[in-house]
Amino acid sequence: MNKDKGLFITFEGADGCGKTTQIELLNKYFLSKGYQTLLTREPGGKGLGEKLREILLNYDGEVSANCESFLFLADRAQHIDCIIKPALKEGKIVLCDRHTDSTVAYQGYGRGIDLDKINYLNKLATSGLKPDLTIIFDIDIETSMKRVGKEKDRMESAGNEFFNKVRYGYLEIAKQEPNRVKVINSADTIENIHKQVVELAEKL
Ligand code: TYD
Repeated sequence: MNKDKGLFITFEGADGCGKTTQIELLNKYFLSKGYQTLLTREPGGKGLGEKLREILLNYDGEVSANCESFLFLADRAQHIDCIIKPALKEGKIVLCDRHTDSTVAYQGYGRGIDLDKINYLNKLATSGLKPDLTIIFDIDIETSMKRVGKEKDRMESAGNEFFNKVRYGYLEIAKQEPNRVKVINSADTIENIHKQVVELAEKL
């Protein structure tokens, strides 16, 4: 692992699972304790990443599943090299909204791209850097789609069958890597979920 210091926490879950609210609350918690943090997201971050995000979420022509995977992975490589690694080197706590497990759940389990291929490409994109902790916010598809609302982006329009596979994928990832990956039931209140998130983060 190339990480010098700092802490790397990723947040995962289906669209509308409430993770963005929880990341912001955890960020405030760390700041109140005097830690330096970096709040970032995939696809995106800044610069080139935000341009890739625009294509991935809003391009309205045909996008093959392979192409979609490579675009998410290209965004990840840029994000890791230019944003995440430098922040970890400065000793920051990096809180990242989606990372490698999104590609496994969405493009692997959801779109049906071979999982070994995705795992290999994820390793290439991250140079093997892994999060210290990943929190998956688990939610049933009906509630998540209600939260997303009517205005859906390209990914959110993929349909219930797709999102059931994504949810199953996330739970499989958690089974396979129980030390790194923890699951929180997103049906609880914002305050209770925040308490659970803080407990997990404090353990680090
Ligand atoms: P975003 O608006 O950030 O969704 P959310 O607020 O739910 O995190 O959009 C990111 C979308 O991209 C989301 O639908 C998940 C999808 N995605 C993938 O399919 N693969 C990936 O590797 C990543 C990072 C995201």
